[in-house]
Amino acid sequence: MKEEIEKIKKVAIESIEKATNAKELEEVRVRYLGKKGELTAVLRGMGNLNAEERPIIGSLVNVVKEELEEKINQKEKEYELAELNRKLKEETIDITLPSTKITRGSKHPLNRIIEEVEDLFVSMGYDVVSGPELETDEYCFERLNLPKGHPARDMQDSFYITSEYLLRTQTSAVQARTMMANKEKTPIRVICPGKTYRRDDDATHSHQFSQVEGLVIDKNISLADLKGTLEVFVRKMLGENLELRFRPSYFPFTEPSYEVDVTCFKCGGKGCNLCKQTGWIEVLGSGIVHPNVLKMNGYDPEKYSGFAFGTGLDRLAMFKYGITDIRLLYQNDVRFLKQFDRCDR
Ligand code: DAH
Repeated sequence: MKEEIEKIKKVAIESIEKATNAKELEEVRVRYLGKKGELTAVLRGMGNLNAEERPIIGSLVNVVKEELEEKINQKEKEYELAELNRKLKEETIDITLPSTKITRGSKHPLNRIIEEVEDLFVSMGYDVVSGPELETDEYCFERLNLPKGHPARDMQDSFYITSEYLLRTQTSAVQARTMMANKEKTPIRVICPGKTYRRDDDATHSHQFSQVEGLVIDKNISLADLKGTLEVFVRKMLGENLELRFRPSYFPFTEPSYEVDVTCFKCGGKGCNLCKQTGWIEVLGSGIVHPNVLKMNGYDPEKYSGFAFGTGLDRLAMFKYGITDIRLLYQNDVRFLKQFDRCDR
């Protein structure tokens, strides 16, 4: 019996040593120490032994069991350690490797201009208002003193949806909306930046563009108020040292009307290709609100007066950033847009 146990032990130890992985080791454990294992079988067979032999064999089996268990555990630890080392080696992070770049977007140049204009006028007590882009003929033209058939409509050919609905050609439509909503209740001081549409398409005109409209209505508003306001506006946006020139012009909704020019910021007024050798660049349309417009939209021209102005935001952006083709503002070409990234820093 003793020899048998010793033989089992010897073979078991050999098997443990031979085992090359955790699975094989587990098989060895089951084979020798498991419920149906060889050593357990020896214990079971002890019934046949006499009383003196039983405790001796019993304790021998237990000693061998413990010895084998210890060996298996030890081997197991070796596997675990080897596995850990393998993982550590395999999963090392190379901190010198360049990381994947997270690209960050930047503000669109037009939005930049809009925010700047809004901040300026809000600081002067204006509200920022908006109106629909799909506008009625009534608000886009009629309430602005441009009845059906008026020749000045020709300058603004639009996209008509029906004979009454069109894509607005000018943010001036919001003037009439603001007045109609207010009707002498409070003085008006608003700007309205927004999208406008015309049947135009070349390097400096796009079928969709952006304007900002300004409207002030109160008692005793004069040309001096318009002039002072536009001087602040233009100088803040384009340069503090610029000179302004008010050139008489015609708009149906203002009387008198002016186009505002600034000294060319490229040549300083000497004459260059940007200002077409004139030294001046046209930036705004403006004037004193026409009495008909006041009357049509709920204001008594005897009591109230006002000024209005409108300008193309695309033009402002183009001047400010030296952009030569308006279409770049609407094509969303990342190569173009990401050049404005640095403006945030
Ligand atoms: N709406 C005009 C345009 O699109 C610009 C303009 C001129 C607006 C004179 C005004 C203004 O408010 O008073 O060309």
